[in-house]
This record gives sequence, C-alpha cells and structure tokens, in this order.
Amino acid sequence: MEIVVSGIRPTGDLHLGNYFGALRNFLKMQHQNNCYFFIADYHSLTTHPTPEDLHGNVKRVLVNYLAAGLNPDAATVYIQSDVPEVAELYLLLNMNAYVGELERVVSFKEKIRKQPNNVNAGLLTYPTLMAADIIIHRAHKVPVGKDQEQHLEMTRNFVNRFNRMYNVDYFPEPTAYNFGEELIKIPGLDGSTKMSKSDNENSCIFLGDAPELIRKKVMKAVSDQGPTEPNQPKAQAVENLFNIMKVVSTEDTYAHFSDLYNTCQIRYGDMKKQLAEDIVIFTTPFREKILELSADNEYLHKVAYQGAEKARESASKTIKEVREIIGFKPF
Ligand code: ADP
Ligand code: TRP
Repeated sequence: MEIVVSGIRPTGDLHLGNYFGALRNFLKMQHQNNCYFFIADYHSLTTHPTPEDLHGNVKRVLVNYLAAGLNPDAATVYIQSDVPEVAELYLLLNMNAYVGELERVVSFKEKIRKQPNNVNAGLLTYPTLMAADIIIHRAHKVPVGKDQEQHLEMTRNFVNRFNRMYNVDYFPEPTAYNFGEELIKIPGLDGSTKMSKSDNENSCIFLGDAPELIRKKVMKAVSDQGPTEPNQPKAQAVENLFNIMKVVSTEDTYAHFSDLYNTCQIRYGDMKKQLAEDIVIFTTPFREKILELSADNEYLHKVAYQGAEKARESASKTIKEVREIIGFKPF
C-alpha cells in the first residue's frame, strides 16, 4: 500500500470551493492508501500567531476536516508539533540544504516581496521542514496542488542527496498525487471565477455558515439585468450562480432555472432564494457536525492523542534508522 502524506495549513474554515475542489478527492484517498494527514502548526509560526490564535486555528481546522469526513480510524490524523521527530529530521536535513537553493524558491521570493519586515529563517527553510514532514513517514505520494510542486521537487533533491551521501536507498522519491481532470473549480459569489477566502471572504460560503448568513450572502451575490434575448450567453456572475447550483441543487432545479433564463423569464431573486435553500440543505449536516465537535474537547483530545501515537510510531522508526545511517551510534 502506498504511503501518502499531506499537510494542512491551519488557516481557517472550509468553504464550498475547498470541499468540491480538492477535499472530496482527498477524503476518498484515506480508504485506499496508508494516509498521514497533519495540521502544519510548526509551519504556521512563520507568521508569529499569538498562543490563543495558534491553538484556536489548529482546533478550527481539525474540527472542519473531521466534520467534512476526515476519518481518524482510516487515516492517521495528527498535529505536526505533537511529533517532535519531525523537528529533528528538519535539523538534520538543514545541514545539507544550501542557502542558495532555498533563496531561489518562488514561494520564498514572494514572501520577501509581501512581508519584507519578517523574512525569518523559518520562511527560508520552509521547504526543508516540508521535506521532513513527508519523508518522516517515507512517503511515496503527496496530494498537493500546482503551487506546491517546487517544494516537492526540493524534497526529491534532499532525498537524493541523502541517499547518495550515505550510499543508501533509504528514502523513496515522493511524487505529487495528481487528481488531474477530476478537479472542479467553484466560482465566487462576487462574480470572480474562484471562491477564495484569501481573495475575498465574502465570495465564500463556509461549511459552518448559519442559514441566515447563507441566505444573506446569496441574496447579495452579483448577477446582471437579465437576458434580453433567448439563449443569450451568460455573464460571468450569472454563470457562477448556475455553476454553484449545479453542485448543490437537483438536476431538475438546475434545468428549471436554465429554461427560465433561456426564455428570458428568469427572476434572479427567485433563483437566489432556491439556491440559498439548497446550499442550506447541503451544508446543514456539516454545520451541525462542526458545532458538535467544537464543543467536544474530549473527543478532539482523543483524536489528537491517537493520531500522535500512530504518527510517532512511524516517525521514531525513521529517526532511529536515520541516526544510525548518519553515524549517531550508541556507546
Ligand atoms: P483559498 O483560495 O480560499 O485561500 P486555499 O488556498 O486554502 O483556499 O485552498 C485549499 C485547497 O482548496 C486547495 O487544494 C485548492 O486548490 C482548493 N480550492 C480552493 N478554492 C477552490 C475553489 N473555488 N474551487 C475548487 N477548489 C478550490
Ligand atoms: N506547504 C503546504 C501548503 O501550503 C502545507 C504543507 C506543509 C504540506 N507540509 C506539508 C503539504 C507536507 C504536503 C506535505 O499547502
């Protein structure tokens, strides 16, 4: 069985775009592979969160993913900082990671541009920590998007360097788990082609949004004056509403409003009302689960504890072997 590792940034709640984009595929994977999913809280320290924010963000993300269907009995679900072996491997990898190659990483150059006053060593060595995350379980596959390809390439470089240096074939070369064609993009409520919390929070419907908030957001969504002739091509914002309807409503509902549009009889107010109700129906089980889990610290503790145990079992085996390969031998 293939070993899969993925890190989740603790950056906030999940929205419909996250769910229908990557997450559904991500969740399928957990039943087909030996998966390790962790919340990357060490990584998040590069932004200097307060202790309350750090803890709160980790909890929120854990709750959201569990509510969305991440199954701690199928996959190993853990919090990165509960596995200090990762930090040790990071230290060891850093000895053979060159400042020049780290400085050339696109995401690092972007950070320098965006936050010139906080260019810390953690940002520079982000790729070695990410490599440690992956190879601590000697993973084969990493389900990441295009923006992470360069980090994965660096991981392969570190793996090859280690294997060559010690003349071993110890770490496998990890590759991207590519969902390819299966990925769909959910548009925003603001007329943009992508629902994205980093671009515009208001364009997003979060899985935990209350019905009233969902109705308010949908009623405010951008549309247009309405079609003036039959079968007129749709403006982007209108196309967006139809595309969201396609994933949350029934086929009949979608066909009904398509017909109304094509015959110039559509009233966007009616369409939005229907869309809002269908989103509420779709998100209600998620919202209920989020509320239930948020209040159940005992369960969250159990999940994190059990995940840490399983992850540390695999990680400590790797660290023990790596120490021997490097020459740290007991006297
Ligand atoms: P955001 O753009 O809201 O900040 P993230 O960058 O945190 O979202 O995205 C996390 C994951 O969800 C990525 O795998 C990304 O490809 C996917 N994703 C985000 N927004 C969408 C969307 N609108 N449609 C499809 N997939 C999305
Ligand atoms: N860098 C990843 C992101 O920004 C998060 C991450 C950290 C990760 N460590 C990882 C992803 C290891 C996969 C494997 O989304």
